[in-house]
Amino acid sequence: MDISHSVGPVTLLEGNTPLIPAPRLAEMVVPGGKLFLKYEGLNPTGSFKDRGMTTAMTQAVADGAKTVICASTGNTAASAAAYAARAGMKCVVLVPDGKIALGKLAGAIAYGAQVVTVLGSFDDGLRMVREASEKAPIALVNSVNPARIQGQKTAAWEVTEQLGTVPDWLCLPVGNAGNITAYWLGFCEGSLLLPQLLGAQAAGAAPIVLGKAVENPDTKATAIRIGNPARWTEAVAALKESNGHILAVSDEEIFAAYHALAKVEGVFCEPSSAAGVAGLLKSVKEGRLDPEGKTFVCVLTGHGLKDPDSAVADAPTTISIPPDTDSLLKALAL
Ligand code: F0G
Repeated sequence: MDISHSVGPVTLLEGNTPLIPAPRLAEMVVPGGKLFLKYEGLNPTGSFKDRGMTTAMTQAVADGAKTVICASTGNTAASAAAYAARAGMKCVVLVPDGKIALGKLAGAIAYGAQVVTVLGSFDDGLRMVREASEKAPIALVNSVNPARIQGQKTAAWEVTEQLGTVPDWLCLPVGNAGNITAYWLGFCEGSLLLPQLLGAQAAGAAPIVLGKAVENPDTKATAIRIGNPARWTEAVAALKESNGHILAVSDEEIFAAYHALAKVEGVFCEPSSAAGVAGLLKSVKEGRLDPEGKTFVCVLTGHGLKDPDSAVADAPTTISIPPDTDSLLKALAL
């Protein structure tokens, strides 16, 4: 691909994220099995959204759009803002007031988007941008846009390439359900072998698990604080076709997995991203799947630095000392 000039795809060279073996965490989560982490937080804006944003923004340019819009719990907003900047387009992002992690807001602002905070949920925002894009000349870049799914599906191909085959299970958090839809499309197109899918929703925002929309979704994992997923039907079909399952995990379970990923494997993701690991652990504990001899891939959708507040929230107290070495050794009891 010629990337030396501005004509062509709107890209920040997203993708090619590492598939990291996690042997120590495997012992805790899937004894007798193998565990790999697809670290999507290493995409250019720090989340998996960049894979679908390159295609959506390239399509928007081809369609002659001058402005793009999206609703977001944060990562889509930062990604849309960056790719719009790259394309020389205006970007408007709607985010739920007070429920967006700091690093995501920082990104959206830094990349020059018009940030609009909505006194409501992500679902309210999505309804508004859908209607606005029908009434005004603005391109919608949420994952209801088919170009997003086409870009995002490449993650499934990468996992297959990196492993040399498909995993037995692919585990991931589910919010608006674009990602699970995209992975399933990618696997179905990419290989005759197919994995089983394990989706995890936050207990306070688990419409697919409950089988009904959640009016006031609530979870500290703000990225997946969604009560009425746009790709609900596709997610249910993917889960059924893959002979997989979806389950709800509590915030405690999500945060336990989040801390374990960082402290046991040195892989720092945002809280929502750890939901797939939490869901896998719970499924094994409850006997819903036998890990023996199986290969598991957990998708870590966003970088830990997206949500610095969560990282420091229950941190142990730091030690404060005068600037001399004796004080240091004394404080460390050495
Ligand atoms: N993990 C992270 C870090 C996310 O930001 C999202 C979704 C998901 C998982 C769930 O993916 O929606 O495809 O099922 N974030 C969207 C956003 C909603 O606006 O950034 P999904």
